[in-house]
Amino acid sequence: MTIRPRFVVLSAAVAASVLAAGITMIGTADAASTLGASAAQSGRYFGAAIAAGKLSNSTYTGILNREFNSVTPENEMKWDATEPSQGSFNYSGGDRILSQGQSMGAKVRGHALLWYQQEPGWAQSMSGTALRNAMMNHVTQVATHYKGKIYAWDVVNEAFADGGSGGRRDSNLQRTGNDWIEAAFKAARAADPNAKLCYNDYNTDGVNAKSTGIYNMVKDFKARGVPIDCVGFQSHLGTSIPGDYQSNLQRFAALGVDVQITELDVAQGGNQANIYATVTRACLAVSRCTGITVWGIRDSDSWRTGENPLLFDNSGNKKAAYTSVLNALNAAGPTNPTTSPTTGPTTGPTTPPAGGGGCTASTSLNSWNGGYVATVRVAAGASAVNGWTVSLTLPSGSALTSVWSATNTGTTGAVSFRNVSYNGQIAAGGYTEFGFQGTGTGPAATPACQVG
Ligand code: G3I
Repeated sequence: MTIRPRFVVLSAAVAASVLAAGITMIGTADAASTLGASAAQSGRYFGAAIAAGKLSNSTYTGILNREFNSVTPENEMKWDATEPSQGSFNYSGGDRILSQGQSMGAKVRGHALLWYQQEPGWAQSMSGTALRNAMMNHVTQVATHYKGKIYAWDVVNEAFADGGSGGRRDSNLQRTGNDWIEAAFKAARAADPNAKLCYNDYNTDGVNAKSTGIYNMVKDFKARGVPIDCVGFQSHLGTSIPGDYQSNLQRFAALGVDVQITELDVAQGGNQANIYATVTRACLAVSRCTGITVWGIRDSDSWRTGENPLLFDNSGNKKAAYTSVLNALNAAGPTNPTTSPTTGPTTGPTTPPAGGGGCTASTSLNSWNGGYVATVRVAAGASAVNGWTVSLTLPSGSALTSVWSATNTGTTGAVSFRNVSYNGQIAAGGYTEFGFQGTGTGPAATPACQVG
C-alpha cells in the first residue's frame, strides 16, 4: 500500500517566504473536495434526504449533484405516499427520487416501509389481522417494486418508546403482535434479497434505555436468524452530543450489523461544526459504519424550521459545519469499512475449530408453519479460506424461495451454496454468514463445508 502524504509540511523558512510572497498554501495534498468523494476515500457514502418537489430548483440540484453520493427520499417512499388507498400503489414520487439517485450513480436508501407515522388514513383505522396482512402486503409490494435498486431499506422506523422503559412504542402496528418487526424483515428479505435491511430510530445517540432496548432486539434477531443487516441512527442532535456516541455505534457493529447515520442534523449554536465533525469521526472510526446521510440540503429545506441545522445556508452557501465535515472525512486514512452485510469479524474465536484448516458450517433456523429462514455460518479453521461451498439436503417437501449472500445450485433435495464475490475470503478463525428462505421444513442436519 502506498501511503501518500495528506498534508504539506513546510519548513519555517519556506513558510516565511511563502507568507511574504502573499501565496496561500492549500493544506491538503490530495484531499477530495466534495462530501461524497471524501467519504468514498474510505469506501463510505455521504448522502442527503431529498424531496421530489425540489428537484426543479437549480441551486438545490446543483449542490445535490456536486456533493452527495447517496440519496434518501424524505417522504416519497413512505406508506401514505406509496399506498394512498389500500392495494392501490403510487410510485411516482419514489421513482422520481430513484431516477435522480441513479443519474448521480448514488446509493439509494429506501425510507421507510413501516412507520406508525404517515400511515395512510385507511391503515390508521385498521387493527388486528387485517392490519397485519395489510402491513406485510405493503412491505412485499413496495420492496418488490424497488427490488435490486435499493442499497438499504429502513424496514421499520421508530418502533421503540422514548424514556426509560426500553420497550416498544404503542401503535396500531405494535398492537398486531410483538413479532410484527421480525415479520416485516422476513417479508422484505423475501421480496428483495440484496437490499440491506435496517431498523431506524432517533434518540439513540448514546447508550441509553431506548438504544439498549433496540440493541437487545438486534441481538435477539441475530441469534434467531431474523434477517437484519443494519441499524440506522437518525442523529437529530441539539447543541451537544453524548460522549459515548461512537462506542454506542461500536456495540451495535459488534453484533454483526452495519451501522449508518441516517438523518443527521444539528441545531445551530456555538457547537454545530464541532458536533458534525464528532459524528463524522465516530462513523469513520467504526469499520461497519458504512455512511452518513444528512436530513436535507439547505437550512431552508429542513423540517426543523428556524434551527438552521444543515450544512448549507438558505442561499446554498457552505457553512462552517460543511468545512468541518469535509476536513474530518479527508483526515481519514484510505481504509475501507466492512461492506458486506453478513461478514463477521476477521478476528474470530481464539481457539480455531478442531481439524485445523478447512471450513465448517452451522445452521440456525427460524421456522413457522409452512416455511423457514435459515442463517448459515461458514467458519474458517486455523487457515484462511479463499472460496467455499456449503452442501446440505433439504427435507422432502421443502423448496428454496430465496438465497442471500451466496449463489445456490438446486432448490430441492441436495442443494449447495457457493460464496459470492465479497464473502469468499475468510480469515483464519473468522466467519461469514449467508441465508436462505424456503417452504416446508428447514434442514436439521449440519451442512458440509468445502474450501475452494
Ligand atoms: O405533501 C403535503 C402537501 O400536499 C400539503 O399541502 C401539506 C400541508 O401540510 O403537507 C404536505 O405533506 C407534508 C410532508 O412533510 C411533505 O412536505 C406533511 O404535512 C408533513 O407532515 C411532512 O413532514 C415530514 C415528516 O417526516 C412527517 O412526520 C417531513 O417532511 C420529514 O422530514 C419528516 O422526516 C422524518 C423521518 O421520516 C423519520 N424521522 C424523523 C424525521 C423528522 O420528523
